[in-house]
Amino acid sequence: MVSSFKAAERLKCIKSSGIRRFFTLAREIPDIISLNVGEPDFTPPKHVLDAGWQAAREGKTHYTPTNGVPELREALTHKIYRDYGLSYDPDSEILITVGGTEAIFLALLGLVNPGDEVLIPDPGFVCYEPGVLLAGGVPVHIPLLEEREFKPSVDDVTSLITDKSRVIILNYPNNPTGAVLSHDEISSLVKIAVERDMIVISDEVYEKIIYDAAKHYCLATFKGMQERTLVINSFSKTYAMTGLRIGYVYGPKDLVSPLWLVHQYAVACANSLTQYVALAALSGPQDFVKNMVQEFDRRRRLVHKKLDEIKGFKCALPKGAFYVFPNVRSFGSSSEELTEFLVREAHVTTVSGSAFGNYGEGYIRISYATAYEQLEEALTRIEKAVKKLH
Ligand SMILES: Cc1ncc(COP(=O)(O)O)c(C=O)c1O
Repeated sequence: MVSSFKAAERLKCIKSSGIRRFFTLAREIPDIISLNVGEPDFTPPKHVLDAGWQAAREGKTHYTPTNGVPELREALTHKIYRDYGLSYDPDSEILITVGGTEAIFLALLGLVNPGDEVLIPDPGFVCYEPGVLLAGGVPVHIPLLEEREFKPSVDDVTSLITDKSRVIILNYPNNPTGAVLSHDEISSLVKIAVERDMIVISDEVYEKIIYDAAKHYCLATFKGMQERTLVINSFSKTYAMTGLRIGYVYGPKDLVSPLWLVHQYAVACANSLTQYVALAALSGPQDFVKNMVQEFDRRRRLVHKKLDEIKGFKCALPKGAFYVFPNVRSFGSSSEELTEFLVREAHVTTVSGSAFGNYGEGYIRISYATAYEQLEEALTRIEKAVKKLH
């Protein structure tokens, strides 16, 4: 019997992420090289993982406080103070979440009213728009253009703000473009948020994955910003633990409390054992992170150099995260057609720029969170395959 049950009406406004589609396509090809993944290919240090086993042996397998174990919240307040000189109350201003993804979702469900406009980056991380729509909000796209190094223009942002604008989402270092903002660039952007009394959700999950002389500035450190900024962060990228699903969000109590309420009913608390893993990651030596970023840097240069040599790709050397976002317009096909072509002809998966928004059309995202030799092989295959397109 065919079931007559259907998904709820509210899901009509969202569809499955364009990134997932490729997993299915790629599964059928045995020698596929995946450059579509958004996760480090490293394993966290043994002492970090051991903290999880140890916690299990000690019987820490029960619900934790809704906002997370006190030791982890305490350690995070020290980390935030050390990194950015900002103080937060560990009991009321930090919430431990199931990855940054949950934190983004909580922020949108907790703060956006039906009809509120939310400015989101385009191209931007795939969770923002569905989160806004499910909250009943209206996504307003901030164009991130290649000619401006994928940085938002103050004029564009100003012109997009209306009486209904409530929240701006910013994400630096950026997925999918790898862009990073300078101190001055952030200053002029956040000034708008202060003048128009808007909330800023600053997604900083790539804060530690940054290269050359580029520096990451936490948005809450800017004048007038701590009281209106929710910072989203995660252990996924910095400590290569995407599957452990552990993240956090911090901000002023008034902004964090609504998130807490949704979190309480949605997940009760984050996984107890991974909270101890996160604590060990945060408290121990940080050379693992440094070494991982050094290796990413080596790969970043390789991918950029190779793409530069392949006719048809055009891209700048990105300053953060682990993605390059080349312009592929000269191939004369859509981004999606090109990514499909690369799967079939080169056996390499990438992501169509259009999966990140309309302004991503004409680009593809290549992740270099894959072994150096694999990247070399993938780029050789791509070079050979695209020759057929000229
Ligand atoms: C910009 C950005 N924010 C948030 C996340 C969420 O990561 P997680 O839920 O694993 O912490 C990702 C993951 O790809 C991301 O790229």
